[in-house]
This record gives sequence, structure tokens and C-alpha cells, in this order.
Amino acid sequence: MKTEYLSNKPVDIQKAAAILKNGGLVGIPTETVYGLAANALNGAAVAKIFEAKGRPMDNPLIVHIAEYDDIARFELTSDALPELYTLAKNFWPGPLTIIMKKGKAVPDEVTAGLDTVAVRFPSHPVARAVIHAAGLPLAAPSANLSGSPSPTTAQHVLNDMDGRIDAVVDGGSCVVGVESTVITLTTKTPTLLRPGSVTVEQLRRLLGKIEIDDAVLHQLEDGRAAPSPGMKYKHYAPKANVVLLKCGDDEFIEYVNSHGGRGVAALCCDEDIPLLSGVKAISLGKRGDYTEQARNLFDSLRRIDGYGDVMTVYSRLPQTDGVGMAVYNRLTRAAGFEVIDLEAV
Ligand code: TXA
Ligand code: MG
Repeated sequence: MKTEYLSNKPVDIQKAAAILKNGGLVGIPTETVYGLAANALNGAAVAKIFEAKGRPMDNPLIVHIAEYDDIARFELTSDALPELYTLAKNFWPGPLTIIMKKGKAVPDEVTAGLDTVAVRFPSHPVARAVIHAAGLPLAAPSANLSGSPSPTTAQHVLNDMDGRIDAVVDGGSCVVGVESTVITLTTKTPTLLRPGSVTVEQLRRLLGKIEIDDAVLHQLEDGRAAPSPGMKYKHYAPKANVVLLKCGDDEFIEYVNSHGGRGVAALCCDEDIPLLSGVKAISLGKRGDYTEQARNLFDSLRRIDGYGDVMTVYSRLPQTDGVGMAVYNRLTRAAGFEVIDLEAV
């Protein structure tokens, strides 16, 4: 299969829409990461997504819409709760995915057989234009090969998916950089399943009590069923081994400098760059600026693999407040939960 590169011009948006209406697969930009889209109402088209990504069939997909009314129009849920409306009013269009009871129009391929469905209304103008032009809700996971860092540019999508999908639409670099916040309304208390740039603090201000699922900040215990199946897989991992250091700024510099060498890299902050020596240093952004660090995270993980010879990558264990929780969640998974606690020794 030849993968067509499409621009964000109207004629190319129409081409992307035609492919989707025909049951094909198109990589599309969103404000979080690039998605790999198919017609969410066509089970056979959706099945191709799993094949192209090498994604386990038990990991459900998010349905993307371009208007709030699409939920009713496409019968995505049978249960439009007041919380759904409140969240939508405050955060849509934007990087929040809401899990609700599944409506009858949603094929089992999308939800991996669950009786719930994840819905997201992205703010990216190109994503919305493609959904509008297709006139369909679009099922879309992140457009990476399963297990790789999510793509934040059209080139990342091509690196993973060239020859496996029909087309990719180039909408530039993603501004958020990590996947949407996922909240479920199908539990007694609304529960955060994946942290993103919409923070727990913001959700609590709006809804009051919010639970944080254990898998957000901890490794799942063997045998425990994941409420969000995507949480149980090793994720976002570059080929190099990521090791997180729990320590202050001075200790970080000292540790990395004394463990340097040819195959060693540091995923660090701007302020660290002049202080590090003997390692390949890539900055995620300013210290404490987790919005900037989230934006650069996946691109940086991909760049580390681009060096070809990096065996070990050291990074700081992030804080868990605000957008820090999203960076913490992705980095601990990239590290397979390997954390060296320098404060404890
Ligand atoms: O920002 C995003 O959300 C991006 C862009 C493309 O929109 N999409 C994305 O999709 O990250 P994906 O498939 O990589 O992640 C979807 C997550 C997975 O962890 C999956 O298990 C969870 O959402 N999920 C989907 N449907 C679910 C459901 N019904 N119940 C629980 N978790 C669900
Ligand atoms: Mg993904």
C-alpha cells in the first residue's frame, strides 16, 4: 500500500474524507497527538486500525466527533448524564475524553466488546474539518505502532505507518504533545483513567469528587483487571532503557555526570544543559514547566532512538500536580516503573 501525504488544504481534506467514507485509514492531526482514523460506524474499517498498529484487540478506541450534537446524532450513548454536559461545556472542544454507556450504533470493534464508549471532541481545526467533511464519527487511537511513543508530527506518523495506511494529513506539530485526559462517568464517582493537559485539579473544581484510578500513578498488580485496558501495556518506550531518578536538581546533575559515557543520554531541562557533561542531553523544557515538557516528551523519546547508540536514558521523576501528572504517568511507563530513589539512600 502506498501512503499518500496530504496537506491541510481543502482539496486534501476532501481526499482524506473520501478515503474514510470508503473504509480506509487516515492519520490526522489533533491538538494532543496524531490519530489513526477510520469510520467509527464501520466495524470492518475499524478492525484495520488494529492490524495497522499491531494493537491488541482488547484495547478499545476513542470516537472523535466535531459537534456536541454528534453524540445524539450518531447514537453514541444511551445515557447522556448531566456530568457529560457539564464537562463538555467546559472542556470541549479540547483534550478531554469522556467514557459513557455505549449506544447501539457503536460497533463492538470500537469498544473491544465493552458496554462503554470513549468520546472526544478535539479542538484542532484540521481534525474537525476532516470529521465534518467525512460526515462521520472517527475512531482513532494514537497513530504510532503499538508500544512506541505517540506521534506529534506527520513525519512521526510516516516513520511508523508508511505503507500500512492510506494517507496522512499534515497539520503541523501537536501543541499539547501527550494524549487526552480520560475520565469515566460509568463509575459511582467519576474516575480519572489517564492524566493529560486537562488536570485533576480542574476536574475537581467542576465536578467535586474525582477518583484517580490506581493504574494512573502505580504499576498494575499482576492479575488486576485494568478499567482502561490501554493502561496495562508497556507504553511510550524508546528502544533505550529509561531510568528515572527521584532527587533534587543538584543530585540529578551529579548522578548523571558520574554515570555518563557513550551510550548514555539525559532527558533533562533547559537549566541542566550547561551543567551536564559526557552524556547526550535533550531538554524537555524549563524546570517545573510541565506543559512545555509534555509538548516535547514524545518527540524527545523518538530523538533518543534516532541517535542509534543510546542504551540508558536518565530523567527526573516528575511531580504529580497539574500537568506534571501526565508527564509522570508517561515517563514511569516509558521506564517500566524503574525509579532510583536517591533521597532514600
Ligand atoms: O489524545 C488522544 O486521546 C489521542 C488522539 C488521537 O485523540 N488518542 C489516543 O487513543 O490516545 P489511544 O487509543 O492511544 O488511547 C485510548 C485510551 C486507551 O488507554 C484505552 O484503553 C482507553 O482510552 N479507552 C478507550 N475506550 C475505553 C473504554 N470504553 N473504557 C475504558 N478505557 C477506554
Ligand atoms: Mg496510544
